[in-house]
Amino acid sequence: MRLSDSFLMEIKSRNDIESVISPYVALKRRGSNLVGLCPFHNEKTGSFTVYPQNGSFYCFGCGVGGDVVTFQMKIENVDYMEAVRMLADRCGLAMPQEGYDDSLQKLRLRIYEANREAARFFHASLHAREGKAGLDYLTGRGLSEGIIRRFGLGFAPDSWSALTDHLHRKGFDDDLLAQADLVTRRKNGGGCFDRFRKRVMFPIIDLRGNVVAFGGRKLPDDDSPAKYINTSDTPVYKKSHTVYAMNLAKNSKAANLILCEGYMDVIALHQAGLDNAVAACGTSFTDEQAKLLSRYTKEIIVTMDADAAGQKSTDRTIGILNRTGVRVRVLRLPEAKDPDEYIRRFGPERFRGLLDGAGNDIEYQLQSALVKYDVDTDNGRLQYLREAAVILANVDDSIARSLYTARLSETYHIPVESLEREIKAIERRRRSSERKKEAAKIVSGATAPDRVNPQRAANLGAAVAEENILNILMMHPALYDQEGLRVSADDFVTDFNRRVYERLAECIGQGMTPDVALFSGVFTAEEMGRVVAILNKSVGGDVAKEELRDCIQRLRREKNRQTSTDASRMDESDWAQKIKEISQTKRGDQKQ
Ligand code: CTP
Ligand code: MN
Repeated sequence: MRLSDSFLMEIKSRNDIESVISPYVALKRRGSNLVGLCPFHNEKTGSFTVYPQNGSFYCFGCGVGGDVVTFQMKIENVDYMEAVRMLADRCGLAMPQEGYDDSLQKLRLRIYEANREAARFFHASLHAREGKAGLDYLTGRGLSEGIIRRFGLGFAPDSWSALTDHLHRKGFDDDLLAQADLVTRRKNGGGCFDRFRKRVMFPIIDLRGNVVAFGGRKLPDDDSPAKYINTSDTPVYKKSHTVYAMNLAKNSKAANLILCEGYMDVIALHQAGLDNAVAACGTSFTDEQAKLLSRYTKEIIVTMDADAAGQKSTDRTIGILNRTGVRVRVLRLPEAKDPDEYIRRFGPERFRGLLDGAGNDIEYQLQSALVKYDVDTDNGRLQYLREAAVILANVDDSIARSLYTARLSETYHIPVESLEREIKAIERRRRSSERKKEAAKIVSGATAPDRVNPQRAANLGAAVAEENILNILMMHPALYDQEGLRVSADDFVTDFNRRVYERLAECIGQGMTPDVALFSGVFTAEEMGRVVAILNKSVGGDVAKEELRDCIQRLRREKNRQTSTDASRMDESDWAQKIKEISQTKRGDQKQ
């Protein structure tokens, strides 16, 4: 069932696009539009454009676009109905009672309730007899009662059914508990058992305060192979999009965020007063997590474990963070494997001292390279400088690059010009190899296929004419169906543009002014990018009428030119006939 057009227009008029987007994207005015860094892909220059006049947005970098609802869907990672509902809540509008399927929303709310009840149960168990081992473990690791409460830590009893029984009594059924990943179904179909058993529990809480998942750590005497087990993705949880303790760190007064590896590191840092510590949730760090962090801070201090795996993940993490444009510093911990251990051994004050001295990511990379070579020998020095040049060739910030080039030149008594020359050469080589790869891709036709309108590339002339027609009719609905300017859905060559036309004609036919908001319920979030690109094309200008007539003629010419030959437009039997003809002539050739 579709929401009524008048309701959608009401949602749109009460949620102006600028105020919906601005909490997520820093927007600067450019003419009558607004521009910022796209929250949906990593970029350093703003391609993300908001058009307040028609309530749309479009990213010229990644092609994402749409109206307020599309934005809400994509940024909060929710479906269409949920996005509309959030916007309705935001402006105090009630959702219409009929014609809207809120079953997914209901399921989510129910999972939040089950998770909250589970978190309460685990927390209570930690302080009960069956949780003594868990509580001893946490206090043994130096955690205070206060911090245990702040993080809502708990204990899953050593039992197959303690939680399941508890939640059954609270009215939750097996099906729901399985969807929340709180229980595992038995193979033989005979009910469920607790997923977390005999583990210290870390609830994971989203930015709105909902318990969305859990991490469970085994006790030291447990020979289970998994140190941690974590909730899998559920209707309320996507671990690659979630940052542990972000619900707390977002309120921190600190100017930066500290990104560490583990739950225990985060908690130890918060207990030491560093309430800006966060961690990825039991996955390696992702682009989505980086995007989320960069919405809340301009600087991130990365402090991963000191082992080889930690170093590797530091390098990866720096790369991902760099793409979001935040400033990155890296903290190396001497004599401890992670922040939690460092603080326990040397105290929070020493840790804060290290934090102030944390170098930026360039220093970190140069330092990591330095330890590989013996710079007391000519050969070692040469190899180090070569590697350092590769590192600096990747630095976009030209001031930082000059600074470190000058430093290297001083330290190793090498003329700054020769270092600069080397760096430039590396950069040129890299650029040209990137360009070659790009060109090879285009030649081999391996550029990203057009998923929204797959017929567009093969029918470019017709598709452009169609898009211009759509643009003009959206901007000048009065021209629709005028004598001499009539088009019909049958005139369209590409299916996607035909669908846009049909919706447009439907709106105009019902006396509505065409509007992006009237498309977002009918087209997917991905398709909306194209709808908005068409809407914001501005082709008509003052001569819209002439232009429209022109485009209609061009479209018809294009269509006539290709109907007879284009296999993709034949139906099944035509195609079979054609194949038959071809194979017969071939056989005929062979006989002669
Ligand atoms: N992790 C996980 N599953 C594992 C191991 C680790 O999900 N089997 C995740 C957890 O989020 C953990 C983080 O990776 O917090 C870091 O792992 P590790 O350094 O091994 O654990 P610590 O957090 O240091 O835990 P502890 O100090 O209790 O050993
Ligand atoms: Mn640890």
